[in-house]
Amino acid sequence: MRRILVTGAAGQLGSELIPALRERYGSDNVVAAMHRSPLTEEVADSGPFTQVDATEQDSVERAIRDYDIDSLYHLGSLLSVAAEANRPLAHRVNIIGLLNVLEAACDTGLERVVIPSSIAAFGIDTPHDSTPNETLQRPTSLYGISKVFGELMGNYFFERVGLDVRGVRLPGVVSWKVEPGGGTTDYAVDAFYGAIREGRYTCYLRPGTYLPMMYVPDAIKALIEVAEADVDGLKHHADYNVNSMSFEPTELAEAIRRRMPGFEMDYDVDPLRQYIADSWPNSLDDSVARQEWDWRPDYGLEAMVDDMYENLSRKLLG
Ligand SMILES: NC(=O)c1ccc[n+]([C@@H]2O[C@H](COP(=O)([O-])OP(=O)(O)OC[C@H]3O[C@@H](n4cnc5c(N)ncnc54)[C@H](O)[C@@H]3O)[C@@H](O)[C@H]2O)c1
Repeated sequence: MRRILVTGAAGQLGSELIPALRERYGSDNVVAAMHRSPLTEEVADSGPFTQVDATEQDSVERAIRDYDIDSLYHLGSLLSVAAEANRPLAHRVNIIGLLNVLEAACDTGLERVVIPSSIAAFGIDTPHDSTPNETLQRPTSLYGISKVFGELMGNYFFERVGLDVRGVRLPGVVSWKVEPGGGTTDYAVDAFYGAIREGRYTCYLRPGTYLPMMYVPDAIKALIEVAEADVDGLKHHADYNVNSMSFEPTELAEAIRRRMPGFEMDYDVDPLRQYIADSWPNSLDDSVARQEWDWRPDYGLEAMVDDMYENLSRKLLG
């Protein structure tokens, strides 16, 4: 990996992955590919950027050739709630866009492509506690279906086409630089905004809704480590479970209250997001990633809340 293109560069993960990659590979060697949404100042000011629309294969190929790219992180996507709100666009971005990236990677001879999957790749019939890496998936959300498609296509391109595709099934990601873009786990970020701005938050998921969650430094670490792992040790490719913490809304509220005693959380359940959350795992068994590329998370709930609270308070209150 020498020159890296990152699609979806303006998003929640791109805004954090790009600075980390620039630190590691050199600022000029990591190209941020945006699509409509604006980049953060940090990303725009620290290295090259361009426009890529993943729904057009030419657009992906042009960026790869223009910047002499050899590896690509494909983060451009519509998340769970955004996908249900615009099915045709979700098909174009999450299915056609993914195929375009894989075909463009083959046509231009890329060395490696990383495509994140998600806990959304599991469904209501999946064992919910400590969900194994290999198990019944059968998701019922449009986003989840596109994630299983991405995993299967990634594995197919590795085995049958000879393109090195890798990916992790990320839990809901908590972060403070960019607000989340239309997912089911956004409440865990929104609660901090509510706490700091108003001392309160109305949660759209029911108390007791456990979900696997991850603080963004661990998500970035997983994306970098899976990409850099020695291929000889990998028996899986685009479908590694990675786990770090699991909590439900009242546990998050308690943890925030320990830093901010007056914080109040009440509930107004959104049926769509509750339906999606109920179909996802409570926690993941990530022993395969631990064995094959030595995956270890750094953050649990308390460490995440401390760091999140401190950084978001500084961002919002100065
Ligand atoms: N954030 C999470 O909690 C989470 C959890 C699991 C997996 N993931 C996965 O990580 C990846 C990045 O997620 P995120 O949270 O940064 O999402 P996000 O919604 O914050 O950002 C997605 C980006 O994709 C871009 N995009 C939309 N249409 C595009 C197109 N046609 N071509 C190119 N780019 C386009 C958008 O402009 C946006 O900047 C996605 O594949 C997502 O499924 C995220």
